[in-house]
Amino acid sequence: MVRRLVELGAARSPRVLAAFRSVPRHLATPGLSMAKAYDAEYAAVTKTDAEGVDISSVSAPRIQALQIEQAGIQPGMRVLEIGSGGVNAAYLAELVGERGHVVTMDIDRDVTRRAEDFLTATGHRNVTVLTADGELGTPDRAPYDRIVVTVQAADVPPAWVHQLKQGGRLVVPLRMRGMTRTVALVRDGERLVSDGLELCGFVPMQGAGENRVRLAVLHDTEGEEIALRLDGHPEPDPEALRAALHAPRAEAWSGVTLAGDESNEHLDLWLTTALDNLPLMAAKPAARQRGLVASASPIGVPTLVEGDSFAYRTVRRTEDPDRFELGAVGHGPQGKAVAQRLVEEIRTWDRSHRGHHAHIEIHPAGTPDDQLPAGRVIDRPHTRVTISWP
Ligand SMILES: C[S@@+](CC[C@H](N)C(=O)[O-])C[C@H]1O[C@@H](n2cnc3c(N)ncnc32)[C@H](O)[C@@H]1O
Repeated sequence: MVRRLVELGAARSPRVLAAFRSVPRHLATPGLSMAKAYDAEYAAVTKTDAEGVDISSVSAPRIQALQIEQAGIQPGMRVLEIGSGGVNAAYLAELVGERGHVVTMDIDRDVTRRAEDFLTATGHRNVTVLTADGELGTPDRAPYDRIVVTVQAADVPPAWVHQLKQGGRLVVPLRMRGMTRTVALVRDGERLVSDGLELCGFVPMQGAGENRVRLAVLHDTEGEEIALRLDGHPEPDPEALRAALHAPRAEAWSGVTLAGDESNEHLDLWLTTALDNLPLMAAKPAARQRGLVASASPIGVPTLVEGDSFAYRTVRRTEDPDRFELGAVGHGPQGKAVAQRLVEEIRTWDRSHRGHHAHIEIHPAGTPDDQLPAGRVIDRPHTRVTISWP
């Protein structure tokens, strides 16, 4: 597992590697095979809600390692983990050592019971397990050098900022217009400034900060469902978009290519920065097999919506077997024009932003526009999140 984490670029610091070597994580998932328990990419789901949404898991080692590297944990630090389970808390406890302390909290008593049993079994005594809504943090135990959030959040509640020391780091899987990235943020006064971000997937937050995406269903035949995931996007006209989906498609191609193993994550964040109405389209693989859509991805495909028409990002093969050309598939009366608009922004990304990472800042709600960096502003109940690009 540790070798794989290094190959994947998820873990690199010798102390992080040592922590991952020393924790017997299989004790957290009795019944799971050793191969799965130590599979770097495997998240073991431990609870699902009535709607079938996963709400608790032991996160995949790759994601745990990415976040721990982002956090930069040093011996002697005080660390708060929000979203528990035991395994990640044990890694954090190894890294802070005897002189440091970890508080791990979860809203679900079943989870904290599991965490307590695990940490007792592994002998990590420098960890306090609490059952409470992480939205409020733990004011009586603050301040912390690091706060590591292991549940998807759409906002940053004031408690996380105020319970972090100045210069301290908050690592949070932040959902921005439907796209989740684990962002490392450094506290600077009342604002947080990003220092790196990584693609990730996490279960959604429960409790006071619950804020799930809404679905606009475009096709509901069982097993081949297609829906737009709305996250503060304008209300679409689902009837018109459903009709558009079944109308002939138009294509537009950008001339911009990606290597087979190159990620779309930065391109997608650029597209949502540049375009006002770009929800993600989720489609079951069967919808793709039936030819209803040309692209399907479990995390969703960026889709530009304009009135009665929409267009989503796609790729096609090129003569070079290792390169794919980016383009867009449009549907509806304006499908061609909308696809061309999306392609224009793919070209802008390639020309001006490729190779760069987005810069994210979190400011308190109510901060005037002229005090925010240029770029996309996402207004949430507690904060104004900005995405800008070098
Ligand atoms: C991905 S799991 C955490 C994984 C864990 N850190 C590990 O060791 O792998 C996310 C957890 O967040 C918890 N959670 C959801 N909303 C929460 C909230 N508001 N406060 C605290 N915990 C919350 C869920 O109950 C779930 O157990």
